[in-house]
Amino acid sequence: MKKGVVDLIRVKVQELHTGEGSGHDWEHIRRVWVTADKLAIEENADRDIVAIVTLLHDVDDTKLTGDDSSEVKLPTARRIMQECGLEEQEIENICTILKSIGFRKRLQGKTPANLEANIVSDADMLDATGAIGIARCFTYSGHKGRAIFIPEKMPMVDMNADQYVNANASAINHFFEKLVKLPNLMATSAGRKEAQRRHLFLLEYTRQFLNEVGAGQEWHDKLNELNHGRS
Ligand code: ADP
Ligand code: NI
Repeated sequence: MKKGVVDLIRVKVQELHTGEGSGHDWEHIRRVWVTADKLAIEENADRDIVAIVTLLHDVDDTKLTGDDSSEVKLPTARRIMQECGLEEQEIENICTILKSIGFRKRLQGKTPANLEANIVSDADMLDATGAIGIARCFTYSGHKGRAIFIPEKMPMVDMNADQYVNANASAINHFFEKLVKLPNLMATSAGRKEAQRRHLFLLEYTRQFLNEVGAGQEWHDKLNELNHGRS
C-alpha cells in the first residue's frame, strides 16, 4: 500500500459523511476507526487495510444512497480508491471485504471475509450497542419518522433479510430485532468482551424503559427469552 493513501481516503470520506443525519455521520466512522485500529493491533492485522475498509464501510450503504445496487457495485468506494491511487488488485481486495460486512448480510448467511473484515465488523457492531447504540437507534428511527415504542407491535425476532429491511416498527423493536443479537456475532476476543459489557447496559436500559412505559409482561418475557443464559 502506498504511503499516505489512508489519509487521502480519510479526507474524502470525512467530506462525504459530515452532517449526515441518520446516525452515519463522520463521528460514527471515526469511532469505528478508533475501535478497529485497537483491535487490529491486538489481532496483528493489517492496519492500513482495516483503516481503509472502516473508512469506506458505509459510503455505499443503501440506507444512505437510496440505491439497492450500491452495496454490490460499490461505486463510491471504488471511485474514492481510484482517485487516491490504489492499484486494481488492492481495490478488488477491499471490495471483497466490504461486500462481506453488515448485519443484513449476516441475515443472508454471509460472514466477514477475513481477519480485517472481522475486525471492522466487530468495531461497527460495537457502535450499534451500549449507550452509543441506543442513541444511534433513536436517531435513525426519528430520521425515518418512526415511533419510540408501540405496545401492541411486538418485535419479530427471527426475521430474514427482506423482513429486516422492510421492518417499519418502533425504535424499541429494533433493540429486539438487532441490538440484543450483536454479542453473538462478534469475532475477536477483545470485541466480544466489550460487546458483552455494552450489552449489559443495553439490557438494563431496556428493562427500565419497559418498566417506565408500563409495557406488558410479554415484553419482559421476550427480552428474557432472547437473553436466555446471558444475564
Ligand atoms: P451500522 O452503521 O452500525 O452498520 P446500520 O447501517 O445498520 O448500522 O444502521 C445505522 C444505525 O441505525 C445503527 O445504530 C442501527 O442499529 C440503527 N438502525 C438500523 N435500522 C434501524 C431500524 N429499523 N430502526 C431503528 N434503528 C435502526
Ligand atoms: Ni457503520
